[in-house]
Amino acid sequence: MKKLHLDLSERGYDIYVGRGLLSECKKYFNLSRKVFIVTDSGVPSEYAQTVRSMCDDATVVTVPMGEGSKSPETYTYLLEKMIEFGMTRSDCAVAVGGGVVGDLTGFAAASYMRGIDFYNIPTTVLSQVDSSIGGKVAINLGGIKNIVGAFHQPKGVIIDPDTLKTLPKRQIANGLCEALKMSLTSDGELFGLFEREEINEDNIEDVIVRSLMIKKAVVEADEREGGLRRILNFGHTFGHAVEAAEELRGYYHGECVAIGMLVTSSESVKARLIPVLKRLGLPYSYEGDVKGALGFISHDKKCEGGKVSVVFVDEPGSFRIEKMNTEDFIAHIEKAFS
Ligand SMILES: NC(=O)c1ccc[n+]([C@@H]2O[C@H](COP(=O)([O-])OP(=O)(O)OC[C@H]3O[C@@H](n4cnc5c(N)ncnc54)[C@H](O)[C@@H]3O)[C@@H](O)[C@H]2O)c1
Repeated sequence: MKKLHLDLSERGYDIYVGRGLLSECKKYFNLSRKVFIVTDSGVPSEYAQTVRSMCDDATVVTVPMGEGSKSPETYTYLLEKMIEFGMTRSDCAVAVGGGVVGDLTGFAAASYMRGIDFYNIPTTVLSQVDSSIGGKVAINLGGIKNIVGAFHQPKGVIIDPDTLKTLPKRQIANGLCEALKMSLTSDGELFGLFEREEINEDNIEDVIVRSLMIKKAVVEADEREGGLRRILNFGHTFGHAVEAAEELRGYYHGECVAIGMLVTSSESVKARLIPVLKRLGLPYSYEGDVKGALGFISHDKKCEGGKVSVVFVDEPGSFRIEKMNTEDFIAHIEKAFS
């Protein structure tokens, strides 16, 4: 078992990574109180039941799987269930699922009685390498992702790679893309591992821990996304645009980020990145309508006053952030595809 500590003084917490930890969560979380467990219909129900079996007084609420659950309706539903269960300020919520369950439960915990304790047990690669730490919790509104939310750090996080055994292959690749992204900006050695090895059961724990170390360092330096935290957006500026443009085709987020990373990498990085993307089963070119996708750039919420902060990688393990006029960035993308 590996224990990391996210150091944010009084808001700091421990992150435990290890196989089989799900069935030991009582050792690491204070479950001797009312425990409000949230999961979704796509997560094997035994994960939440395992947590429940370790509590004296718990309830499990299952929301429908998918991004649609990060909605005001589901959020209100959870708050109503919390009231019904008689939760007080000293009780806690536990998320058992991917980023959707984590973001939704975290936001309900942030606002119920002005904030109760929240624990996260992520069960997708994306949530294990990225979204379960850092305290960003949110729901979507009016078609805008994560537009209503809070910074509410969890009290503890348990990451059990065994839970990934039930995760479909495409979801695994989707999550690994975020780890690959972090390696490119911040850990050349981790990128080397992606280049040398196929990611499987034997080395995924290493990938998770190394990715968490990167995210942890970024969050510790910039909890509220004033500066450095922007590097987590590498590949996301054009990635989000592709995601919006291709909504009907049902691209996964990581698949769009893969395309986005290619256009903000140097030629030498791109040449090394393409074989890695191929091996992971992620897209390594974009066949869609580039102009159509570019139309979404100015709607991106990270685009402030006609300018957009773009993260470029010229060498694995390093980055530069450029504040560009949106038109210049669009011209850059058009050139990349010409
Ligand atoms: N808070 C943050 O910092 C942050 C960062 C990145 C992404 N996010 C958010 O994360 C969300 C995406 O998260 P995600 O990719 O984990 O998607 P997700 O939570 O929708 O999970 C993907 C699918 O896998 C299923 N699933 C989960 N665990 C499983 C398991 N162990 N076995 C089988 N199926 C399982 C789910 O039911 C779901 O259908 C987005 O809403 C995004 O905005 C948040």
